[in-house]
Amino acid sequence: MSIHTEKVAKKVTLTTIARMKGVEPITMVTAYDALFAKLFDGQVDMILVGDSLNMSFFGKDDTLSATMDQMIYHTQAVCNGATLPLIVLDMPFGSYTNEIDAVKNATRAYQETNAQAVKVEGGKERANIVRALSQNSIAVLGHIGLMPQFVRSDGGYKVRGKNEEDIQSLIEDAKALEEAGAFAIVVEGVKSEAGKAITDAVSIPTIGIGAGVDCDGQVLVWSDMFGFFEAFKPKFVKQYFNGATVIKENLEQFTSEVKNKAFPSDEFTY
Ligand code: KIV
Repeated sequence: MSIHTEKVAKKVTLTTIARMKGVEPITMVTAYDALFAKLFDGQVDMILVGDSLNMSFFGKDDTLSATMDQMIYHTQAVCNGATLPLIVLDMPFGSYTNEIDAVKNATRAYQETNAQAVKVEGGKERANIVRALSQNSIAVLGHIGLMPQFVRSDGGYKVRGKNEEDIQSLIEDAKALEEAGAFAIVVEGVKSEAGKAITDAVSIPTIGIGAGVDCDGQVLVWSDMFGFFEAFKPKFVKQYFNGATVIKENLEQFTSEVKNKAFPSDEFTY
């Protein structure tokens, strides 16, 4: 039986998400502002205010310079636009390097926004952070596999889970996060066999992005899935809309009408 059918009719809680594992795939998209959050409201189970906004909205080459202030501002906007999905604030690089900073910054996230959870990147080496947050009543979404905040230290974006040893290491990461109290885990950029093995190994939901169809849910970055972000397109991104082309074509028409004095016509004039 479906927990909710096509549209999400009620506020999604951590309990809803926990119950969906093995029952119904979880949908999550990113949002960065109230305008789009409102469009996504009632359509998806979860919204992630991802630090990917530092690239798609702020124009940086990676996510590393996103700040806590930036994440709070955008999460406030998303919470103003959407009321039904479970909203997650992505903790930016450097905001959870130790337990004290993690709790201090995540407490700010709870006090200054209506986010229901925060997300942190890292496996077993960050289990202490996830535990500290959970023990301080802050719900945590883990993030393992390809972790964008490690792009500089890893020397690029690298697909994980290509051999048995790495799959085992990813399973250990997932189990450590579950044991530390994470309510779900984003699994990014891993071979589909690894996505399945991780999903089978834990009793909390996995939400895949480039991790195959066997994860308990799927997440995409909205500006990628709707074709607005043109800098690059990872293999796992399905473009459901050609946003950049549509915007450019329509702006061309606006420009031409303004230059030719066709706009504003009588219809648009007082
Ligand atoms: O920042 C983000 O948008 C993310 C997704 C890639 C899951 O972390």
